Amino acid sequence: MKELFFESIDSTNTYLKDHYEELEDFTFVRADLQTAGKGRSGRKWLSNKGENLMFSLLIKDKNLIEKFRQLSVESAYLVLKTLEKYGLQDLSIKWPNDVYVKGKKICGILLEAISREKIECLIIGIGINVNQSEFNGEYLIEPTSMKRELNRQIDLIELKDILFESLSSELVSDHYDKIKKYDYLKGKTVSCEINKEIKTITVIGIDEDYSLKVIAGGKETKLQSGEISFHIQGGL
Ligand code: BTN
Repeated sequence: MKELFFESIDSTNTYLKDHYEELEDFTFVRADLQTAGKGRSGRKWLSNKGENLMFSLLIKDKNLIEKFRQLSVESAYLVLKTLEKYGLQDLSIKWPNDVYVKGKKICGILLEAISREKIECLIIGIGINVNQSEFNGEYLIEPTSMKRELNRQIDLIELKDILFESLSSELVSDHYDKIKKYDYLKGKTVSCEINKEIKTITVIGIDEDYSLKVIAGGKETKLQSGEISFHIQGGL
């Protein structure tokens, strides 16, 4: 495991994209400020300087690259278990890439692949709201932070150490059986944008292969993570 830290950078994901060839497997890049932080679907990731945990992890190991379909959910699970250690309750994973507390977003994950003929490496970008109390941007899902939920300041470095250790040692294992009980979308009827088309689906749950099993148009089908965005009916 290797760690790099920047006080300010455009985006830790972009840094790894530009430098992956000269960096070793399991390099973590963390920053206090991102001037062009990236979220999913071309959105921005906004975060106050020095208040939150923002980092990206470089994966070059062939065996882990093969598991790319499950890495968002597995990373979300390891974040969730770390947050649980701090006493946060009512945590869930919103397939495939968010961690929620009481239905509010506390963590977002952006998984990117660099491919030529095959996938060369994966970049797992993770943003956790830690000590930020006010969120003034426009958000699809209401954000929250550890500080807001726990009413106390969190030591960022301690949190970083716990999570980096967990990702380094546990990302190689499958936790599917444990993940099932944290499935936020399970049983919900949601409208979902698939390939630019809005569809109403009922979610059966995260499947063993880490796809999302749903009923769409009266038929059972599986969604793969990719460019799928959800709008929970009833106001989110
Ligand atoms: C999302 O919920 O839309 C995904 C957000 C991912 C944000 C993290 S912060 C660290 C890393 N660098 C980025 O530019 N994005 C990810």
